[in-house]
Amino acid sequence: MSFYQVLVFIHVFSAIIGMGPGFILTTVVKSGDNMTELRHSYAIRHRLHIYVMIGGTLLLLTGLLMGLMNPSLFQMGWYVTSLVLFLAALAIGPLVLTPRSKPIKAMLASHKGEDIPQEYRRLSKELFFYENVENIIFIIIIALMITKPF
Ligand code: HEM
Repeated sequence: MSFYQVLVFIHVFSAIIGMGPGFILTTVVKSGDNMTELRHSYAIRHRLHIYVMIGGTLLLLTGLLMGLMNPSLFQMGWYVTSLVLFLAALAIGPLVLTPRSKPIKAMLASHKGEDIPQEYRRLSKELFFYENVENIIFIIIIALMITKPF
């Protein structure tokens, strides 16, 4: 097995172990009928997100290393488009998702009682919308990776 093949191997495993849990981060917190259950859902989501961070970092590192080993990749449309989309998805995290998840976390920490407040529904709807945008970006990247169309 060449070093390049080792990188492809790590890359594909990172895609499965990192992106798999990533696609269900929204689904996980959709379950919960009271505040105790909802807090538990967010705790599970927090743990799953660790896989996404490790997998995502490995995807970028191995992807860039493959590009360094085979610079002609930088002339491939699918490679450059994926790289740009991936960096955009990375930036959406702190720029778009964090400001929208902060008030939710504060509410989970401070809210008294078991009823889920109406304000949570409004805040989460907006957060989930942008999480779906992220998911669509990752689906496009995966499709580009598999089909390498241009
Ligand atoms: C959401 C992020 C990503 C996912 C899920 C992903 C997934 C995959 C998968 C499943 C393959 C195998 C496809 C095949 O060759 O049959 C692949 C190949 C590849 N990926 Fe990614 N990837 C991601 C991000 C990136 C990024 C950001 C780069 C570049 C910096 C990159 C560079 C590559 C390269 C060069 C190959 C081809 C390896 C080869 O066969 O020579 N990937 N990717």
